[in-house]
Amino acid sequence: MFKKNTGGYLLPILLTICLFSCAQEGEKNKAPKLGKDPVPEIVAAMTLEEKAILVCGTGMVIPPSFFEDLPEGDNPFGAFFEDNKGEDPEYDAMVERVRKFVPGAAGRTAEIPRLGITTMVVADGPAGLRINPERDENNDKYFCTAFPIATLLASTWDTELVKKVGSAMGNEVLEYGVDTILGPGMNLHRNPLCGRNFEYYSEDPLITGKIAAAMVNGIQSKGVGTSIKHYAANNQETNRNSVDTIVSERALRELYLEGFRIAVEEAQPWTVMSSYNKINGLYASESHDLLTKVLRDDWGFKGYVMTDWGGGTDPVAQMKAGNDLLMPGNRDQSKEIEKAVREGRLDEKVLDRNVERILNIVIKNPRFNGYKYTDKPDLKANAEVARRAASDGMVLLKNSKNALPFSEGLKKVAVFGNTSYKIITGGTGSGDVNEGYSVSLVEGLKNSGYSIDEETRDVYLKYMKEAEENQEKPVIAFLGAPPIPEMEVDIAMVKKLAETMDIAIITIGRNSGEGGDRKAESGDFYLSEQEKQLVRDVSSEFEAKNKKTVVILNIGGVIEVASWREYPDSILLAWQPGQETGNSIIDVLSGKVNPSGKLASTFPLSYDDVPSISNFPGIELPMTEEQKEENEKVLPSMRKVPSRVVYEDDIYVGYRYYDTFDIPVAYEFGYGLSYTEFEYSNLELSSDQFQGRMEVSVEVKNSGPVAGREVVQVYLSAPSEKLDKPLSELVAFAKTELLEPGQNQTLSFELNPRDLASFDTASSSWVAEAGEYRVQIGASSKDIKQAGSFQLAEEIAVKTVHKALSPQREIDRLYP
Ligand code: BGC
Repeated sequence: MFKKNTGGYLLPILLTICLFSCAQEGEKNKAPKLGKDPVPEIVAAMTLEEKAILVCGTGMVIPPSFFEDLPEGDNPFGAFFEDNKGEDPEYDAMVERVRKFVPGAAGRTAEIPRLGITTMVVADGPAGLRINPERDENNDKYFCTAFPIATLLASTWDTELVKKVGSAMGNEVLEYGVDTILGPGMNLHRNPLCGRNFEYYSEDPLITGKIAAAMVNGIQSKGVGTSIKHYAANNQETNRNSVDTIVSERALRELYLEGFRIAVEEAQPWTVMSSYNKINGLYASESHDLLTKVLRDDWGFKGYVMTDWGGGTDPVAQMKAGNDLLMPGNRDQSKEIEKAVREGRLDEKVLDRNVERILNIVIKNPRFNGYKYTDKPDLKANAEVARRAASDGMVLLKNSKNALPFSEGLKKVAVFGNTSYKIITGGTGSGDVNEGYSVSLVEGLKNSGYSIDEETRDVYLKYMKEAEENQEKPVIAFLGAPPIPEMEVDIAMVKKLAETMDIAIITIGRNSGEGGDRKAESGDFYLSEQEKQLVRDVSSEFEAKNKKTVVILNIGGVIEVASWREYPDSILLAWQPGQETGNSIIDVLSGKVNPSGKLASTFPLSYDDVPSISNFPGIELPMTEEQKEENEKVLPSMRKVPSRVVYEDDIYVGYRYYDTFDIPVAYEFGYGLSYTEFEYSNLELSSDQFQGRMEVSVEVKNSGPVAGREVVQVYLSAPSEKLDKPLSELVAFAKTELLEPGQNQTLSFELNPRDLASFDTASSSWVAEAGEYRVQIGASSKDIKQAGSFQLAEEIAVKTVHKALSPQREIDRLYP
C-alpha cells in the first residue's frame, strides 16, 4: 500500500509485473491478518509508512455550510484540518473510501486492507450521538436521540439510571455504524461561566467519576467504545487551544484528575481524549506525565489515547507522550512521524506500541467484527429513557405554599418567556445532537391535557420570528445563534391572563457551547432587566388573584437566582433536558414524577463569590507577528493565543470553598426539594475505630404525603494537622428506591482508606491522617441529618503514585 509505480522495457516489464504480482499475491496470502493473527504480528508486518498513517486520523469532512460567509479558500479550522490532497493518490483513495462511512461522524482512522485493518468511525457525544441527519443518496433520516445534558444526568445522582441512558445511547452508536462515541465529557465545573459546563457533570470529582463510569459502562455494554474527555484540566473555552493551566499537583490529583481515575478504574473506557490546553507548561497531548505516568502507570488504563481535534503542535512529542492517535489527523503529521523515525528522533518501538494499542481496540469494533448495523436504532424506546431521565434530574429549587405539583382541577396555564415556545434541548457545538423532534413546554402542556392561551402564544411566536429575521446570522452556525432578548410583555396582557388562567409559567433560557465562555453579565449569568421585570410583573399580578407563578430554568449552567427568587412561588431547574423537554417538565409539574434531582454544582449568591473569579479565564501573553498572522486566519475557537491561567483556588472549588470559607450561597451543593419529606435515623458506624474499612448505615423514611426518592449524601470531615482540608467532602452517595409514604429503607456505605486520604505532594502519596473523622449524612452539603465520628489511630499511607505534572512556577494558593 501507498507505494510508487515504476517503469521499463516491455518484456522485462511483463516479467516483472508477473513476478511482482505473484510475489504480491504471495505476500498478501502470507501477510498476517488482524483478528486471525496476534496484534504484535500485525505490527511487525506493517511498513513504517503504514504505522505512521494509522496513528493519524483521515481528516475531517467539514460541512460546506460552515464556510458560507467566508472568503473562498479560507479554512477557519486551521492547518490541522487541511486535506493535503493530490500528493498520494492511493492514500487519497483510501481516505475517500473511509469517509463514506457515517456522514457527519467527527473522524475515521485509516484502513489497511492487506492486513485486515478496518477503519474506526468516531462521532460526538456526549448528550447523544452526533451524525448528519440526512444524506445525499437517499431521503432516509438518521436522527439520534437528544438525551438530557450531562449536568442534568449528574443531578439525578442515580448511577443505575445513567447506565440505562448510556445503554440507550450505545444502541444508537451501534446501529448507526459508529465504533466509538466521543464522550462522556467529565471536566469539573471549576467556574460557572465555562461555556461547556453543560457537557460536564459537576464541581465534585466523586459524582463526576461515578456518573461517568456508569455512562461508560452503559454505552460499552452495547459493544461500542467511549472516549472520556477532555483529559485534563480543560475547564474553560477561552483560549482553549493554547492556555497554559498552572495547577498544583494536589489540586490535580484530588480534583481535576480524580473523576477520570474513577472512570478508568471502574469502567475502562476504550479511549481517552486528551485536552487542547497545556498543563504546567506542556500540551496535555504532549505530556508523558499525564498520558503515561498517571493514566497508564498509576491507574492501569488499557485503551488508547486520541487528541482533541487539532490538539497540540508536535506529533513526535505526542507519540512519545503516549498520545496514540492524532485526530482528526492529516498527512503532514504522518509524514513528520515517519521522518522522525528515519532520522532517529523517534524510536520505532514507541510507534509500534501506539499502533498496537489502537489495533487492540480496532479488533473490538463492531465494524471490524462485521456487525450488520441497521441504521434503525430503537428511537422510540430511547425517547422514553430520555424523558424519564430528564424528569429525574430536574431540581426543585423553591416551592412555597405547595404551588407544585399542579392542584387537581388546574387546567389553564398562562405561558411566558421565549423559551417556553422555543425550548432549548441541549447546548451548542460538537455537543449538540441532530434529533428528529423536540417537545416544547407548550407542547408538553398540551400533551398532558392542559390548555394555554393561544393569543399569548401567537404574540410570542410573531415576536420571535421577527427578531430571528432581523438577527445577524452567525458565521458558523455550529456555534449557535445569539439569544433573542426577552419580549417586553404588555402588563394589560398579564392582568388579563391572571384573571382567566389558573397558573403562570415563565421559562428563562440560556445556551452556550464549545468555543466560548459565558459572561458574568445581565442576560447571561444574571437575568436581564427585561427578564426580572417579567418575573416581578407576572408573579405580582397572579398573586393578586391568588394564583401561583412557576419559573422554569431551561439552562445549561449555573446562573444568579438570589436577586429575583423571592417573586415566584416555585422554581424548577429543568436544565436542558433533551428532545422530550416539554413532556419531562410537565411530568414534574403535574406530579406524575416527584422531583428527586439534587444540585451537583453550587448556585452562589453572586458571581463575585466564585473562588476562581480572579483566575478565570486567565491572562493573554504577547504574541509574535507570525502567531498574530496565523490566528487572524482561523476561527476564534481554533486560535492559539499564548495565555495562562493559574488555579490559585487550588483544592477549594465549589462547595469545598463555600463551606470551608463560610461563604453563604443561594442553593448549596446537594440541594433539591421534593413533594414529600424524608426523615433520617439510626446512623450506625461499624466501629468507633477505623481498621481498614468502615461501614456506615442510615435509615431513611418517607414521612410525607406522596411517594418519592431521596438522594442520601455522605460527607467526611478529616483531621487537618498535616494538610489543610476542606470542611467536608462528599465520599459516598446513594438514591433510595421509590418510597411510598411511611415506607423506609436502610442504606449502607463502605468507607475505605482512600476515602479518608488527601494527596500529600511532598511524598506524592495519598495519606489518611491520624485523628478524628466526622461522618455526616445529609440531604445536602449543608442539611446534615445524622452525624457520628470515628478515630484513626495511626496515619495510613494509602498509595504512592508517580511524581508527575509539577508546576514550574509558584502558585499563590488559597488556603483557610
Ligand atoms: C471538541 C471535542 C469533540 C471534537 C470532535 C472538538 O472541537 O473539543 O469535544 O469531540 O471536536 O468533534
